[in-house]
Amino acid sequence: MDALDLARWQFGVTTVYHFLFVPLTIGLGVFVAGLQTAWHRTGKEHYLRLTKFFGKLFLINFAMGVVTGIVQEFQFGMNWSEYSTFVGDVFGAPLALEALLAFFMESTFLGLWIFGWDRLPKRVHLACIWAAAIGSNLSAYFILAANAWMKHPVGYEVVDGRARMTDLWAVLTNSTALAQVPHVIGAAFIVAGGFVLAVSGYWLLRTKADMWRGAARAALVMTALAGVVVAGSGDVSGKLAHEQQPMKLAAAEGLERDTAGAGFTVVPGVEIPKLLSFLSAGDFDATVQGTEDLQRRYEERFGPGDYRPDPVVVFWSYRVMIGFGLATVGLSVLGLWLTRRRRDLPPWLARLFVLALPLPLLAVTAGWLLSEIGRQPWTVTGELLTAASVSPGVSLTEVAVSLTIFTLLYGGLAVAEAVLLTRHVRKGPEESEPAPAAEKLEPSLMY
Ligand code: HEM
Repeated sequence: MDALDLARWQFGVTTVYHFLFVPLTIGLGVFVAGLQTAWHRTGKEHYLRLTKFFGKLFLINFAMGVVTGIVQEFQFGMNWSEYSTFVGDVFGAPLALEALLAFFMESTFLGLWIFGWDRLPKRVHLACIWAAAIGSNLSAYFILAANAWMKHPVGYEVVDGRARMTDLWAVLTNSTALAQVPHVIGAAFIVAGGFVLAVSGYWLLRTKADMWRGAARAALVMTALAGVVVAGSGDVSGKLAHEQQPMKLAAAEGLERDTAGAGFTVVPGVEIPKLLSFLSAGDFDATVQGTEDLQRRYEERFGPGDYRPDPVVVFWSYRVMIGFGLATVGLSVLGLWLTRRRRDLPPWLARLFVLALPLPLLAVTAGWLLSEIGRQPWTVTGELLTAASVSPGVSLTEVAVSLTIFTLLYGGLAVAEAVLLTRHVRKGPEESEPAPAAEKLEPSLMY
């Protein structure tokens, strides 16, 4: 093992860890804003209690997302200086937009929301949580535009060994980004939906309170709708990969040779004839390129080297992503059916929601493994190899030390997060303080 391998491990560990909090923040922010809107519209107290309850869970997560995101960025300078030099000019704009438009918006309005209860007019306070929720989704857009550029670089030229941006608009409207944004945001809503269902399931096993039925029902709708978005955008991503990242698609399918009318391998030994060709190109007889034939063509184009990503990780992460993610969506569709016409959620399904909590998290992790490991050996497809991206001066010992520190620190943070969340979930929503009553006393002060 050398510094490059360890730097890759470090990036993998910190990224996977960071992305456990991000989707929950993205989805839960909108969910909390929806709850507060319901309270605003109906005046029903249980919406207020749920808003505060899920709001606190959202804040714990938001904090973890920010801390782990900062560590993520440090690595670019520390372990990946060659990569940073190459992409700096292109990434500068979307990442600056992310910081200025999205992250500032998110944090400022979140601050106003936290401290604005009973201080800000009710409507302004509601607008704050919406602005924060929209900010985190915007943030995702800019970061994903940068990530999509690594898969399918557009709007740039290479000058003196560095990418120079020639067209910001092309970077921001990259077809890969436009498919990836709804896919990742949809996936985030599935994670948040799975989380709310697990919490509601836990409470529905203990109480029949209307409040939890309402929360579960809202999460069921959110998860099922997100499932449609994720499947639709996943289909577009697959079609784009067929054109832009054929090696990733071939590895995800375990297809070695160029094949016309290629079948879709569900799991090894179970194949649906011609489906891969149809999913990739909308034509049952289209040719899908295979890893070995692509390897030969890449060697001719880029010179000697191994251009195939790890076949086992890519193949299985694809199936875990689809399988575990759609299982969560399936559970939500089942829940919607069983709770139709205000029927109670059966206890066995409530228990299943609690047990299914890890599924969407494993699905998004697998999605990122497919996306990032599937792009290897490149950091920027066709332009920059991972082996050429690492900081030249960094030693094995340095990376080993920082990796150990991060892993220990992250282990500690994971325990802290799990304890905080579990404690808060077990405690349940607090009885509302008489905040809304103040409105009755002195409406002019509230608006
Ligand atoms: C019909 C189901 C699905 C299909 C066809 C699909 C397809 C894809 C494809 C082709 C990619 C790689 C895109 C690229 O690297 O350019 C991807 C990535 C990803 N998927 Fe899925 N997916 C599906 C379901 C899901 C579900 C249910 C989740 C999570 C709940 C999920 C989460 C992700 C994530 C987080 C990524 C990495 C980001 C990205 O590259 O877009 N996917 N998916």
